Amino acid sequence: LDNLVAQAKDILRTNDLGGYTVPTKGLYPFQWNWDAGVTALGWLYVDELRAWTEFEKLFEGQWENGMVPHIVFHQESDDYFPGPDQWKVEGNPPSTSISQPPLLATMVRIIYEQSKDKELAQTKLDALMPKLIRYHEWWYRERDPENTGLVSSYHPWESGMDNSPAWDDVLQRVPQVTRPYQRRDLNHVDSKQRPLKEQYDRYIYLVDFFRENDFDYQKIYQNCPFHTQDISLNAVLQRGTLDLIHLNKVASVAVDMSSLEASAAKAEEVFPALWDAERHLFLNRDHDLAKTIPVSTSGGFMPLYSYSATPEQAALMAAEIKEWLVLGPSGLASTSPLESTFDAKRYWRGPSWLHINWMIADGLKHYGHDDVAEQLRQVSRAIIEQSGYFEYFDPITGEGCGGKDFSWTAAIALHWLL
Ligand code: DGY
Repeated sequence: LDNLVAQAKDILRTNDLGGYTVPTKGLYPFQWNWDAGVTALGWLYVDELRAWTEFEKLFEGQWENGMVPHIVFHQESDDYFPGPDQWKVEGNPPSTSISQPPLLATMVRIIYEQSKDKELAQTKLDALMPKLIRYHEWWYRERDPENTGLVSSYHPWESGMDNSPAWDDVLQRVPQVTRPYQRRDLNHVDSKQRPLKEQYDRYIYLVDFFRENDFDYQKIYQNCPFHTQDISLNAVLQRGTLDLIHLNKVASVAVDMSSLEASAAKAEEVFPALWDAERHLFLNRDHDLAKTIPVSTSGGFMPLYSYSATPEQAALMAAEIKEWLVLGPSGLASTSPLESTFDAKRYWRGPSWLHINWMIADGLKHYGHDDVAEQLRQVSRAIIEQSGYFEYFDPITGEGCGGKDFSWTAAIALHWLL
């Protein structure tokens, strides 16, 4: 155990490029939004000041409109595609033009509450609050301009669950880019564990589309060929907003939160429409077809984490999760092992991810399903004991996949498993 703790701390130190942590060297050489939040949680067990710096560095990339990009390109690297020359966002530091599941506020709350240096925590929280509030306000203003209660996503990368089968049909409506380009991810990871070329062609089309539409949120809302309402992202946003409302009460200067409170209340009203009574989980929504997407993914359990399920739904989800763990005992599969599209090693089409296991376990505990939460913890611990700190894991064999020495896997281990 001591060895695993030392290894996890070493990974954070090795991936630290001076105030920000790369997810892993080579494959992902910049600072990613949701990785940064989870990784900060790991720094809490190494160096509290450094945990706060992770957020500060990320917010250096915050846009005028409040958006926090999914990647902040703090320095150049030839290891990654598409880099800043592709996104063409003016700004210092340069960034991408999309965001990622906004778990930052929740991570800030955990670090604020669990850190030992309370004076430091108060100063850092007070400075971060206005930035976090602007970020959440951006989601509701620009990503739900019609005030439906669900925010929109325009790229599979925005979901963080890039090649999830949930996006397959919507992605088919995105043309394949015709210009030549060179992927870099396959220099680092076996192509069987990564998205297909056909998907990349569409991912890159969207990067061009945002730029050609001047990053204008109204044009993109109207015309983006990829337009989803991602249940997991919406749940992460909901939980983050609830945590932000709480943090406002402990911040030195409290501000008016009525607009965020109204947004959270609205979301609470519409989540029930995404419940699938046969599958026993929530579904993503296809915006243009105005219907739910019938694919069972681990994201469908995320309303546990945002406290958006009824106790009855939570009990059904807890039972469903136990069944998934019978079929895939090495962590919660990202796509149900019963889906025809399930692929045990291919990124978000099957593998289990430690931070998702943790968030869902956190939700299960909230609803009193401590036994299933503990089961998720035990299986998560078993996979790092077996395979080490990989990016994701084959949910059937526990084999480590994707990048190795991965920051958020190490961070979740320090916070939850060791
Ligand atoms: C990638 O490049 O694979 C990332 O997931 C994009 O955010």
